[in-house]
Amino acid sequence: MTGPELAEAGRLLAAARRPVVFTGAGMSAESGVPTFRDAQTGLWQRYDPQELATPAAFRVDPALVWGWYEARRHGVRRARPNPGHLAVAAIQARLPETVVITQNVDDLHERGGVPAPVRLHGSLFAPRCSACARPAPLPSDLPPPADPPVPHVGPVPHGEPVPHVTEPHDGPLTPPACAGCGAPVRPGVVWFGEALPSAALDAAVEAASGCDLLLTVGTSALVHPAAEIPLVAARLGAPVVQVNPVPTPLDAICAVNLRGPAGEVLPALVRAAWPDAPAG
Ligand code: APR
Repeated sequence: MTGPELAEAGRLLAAARRPVVFTGAGMSAESGVPTFRDAQTGLWQRYDPQELATPAAFRVDPALVWGWYEARRHGVRRARPNPGHLAVAAIQARLPETVVITQNVDDLHERGGVPAPVRLHGSLFAPRCSACARPAPLPSDLPPPADPPVPHVGPVPHGEPVPHVTEPHDGPLTPPACAGCGAPVRPGVVWFGEALPSAALDAAVEAASGCDLLLTVGTSALVHPAAEIPLVAARLGAPVVQVNPVPTPLDAICAVNLRGPAGEVLPALVRAAWPDAPAG
């Protein structure tokens, strides 16, 4: 990321009134949430996430899939929003028509100060029945979130001790039974081969169609149809600014490519757009 690129992206952001911020797994990488294509750790090493995240995998071995999502959910509860999440909240605080669209299933945007992101791939925190779709309560073994409520702007305190939490069970885990029909409860996420929730997809397409800047952050732009959201904005003439340490298929349509981690680039972008803003 060079000074002129940052200045140009800052100019585009400062001129925007209805920006869209479109985020993927790289947004949460600096919070310690592994990106989907990262190597898995521990006993999950021998499984390919793309093979666990399917309806067929859940049919064949519900305990394996439920256990994997429970491990991910516990990992997310221990994570904190990073300065990138706070910068996105700062953009929305400055430009209230900002729409945040995420492919992530964690809750770090909400905990970072964006109350209602459009969720294209569901949430780790909204399980439902695999047969009748009735919402199911979360298993009650969760520790409280690791962080206090955070303000819209301001640095994430680094080096603070993470509160002690009991080590959760890690491994295959039989999913709870639906209170209505008794079928296994499933994670409330979108699996490979499943349709995206239509209300979220419609809201995302509408926002991308009407935006005057699209900021894409931390996505490989390989998974469709979500990856089409920046293309919709570009096709209708909105400039696209990308934040990613490496090139992606979106590079060619971007007005500016800011190469670097979201937790550093986004706060710098906010400062470039509004140099007079309080440091937080
Ligand atoms: N800051 C910004 N970007 C980062 C960072 C960082 N600190 N670290 C990694 N990245 C980038 C990577 O370079 C990569 O381009 O984040 C991207 C992560 O890509 P994926 O793991 O493919 O995640 P994503 O694009 O969100 O995947 C889309 O596919 O796997 C499914 O449903 C899952 O929602 C997910 C979807």
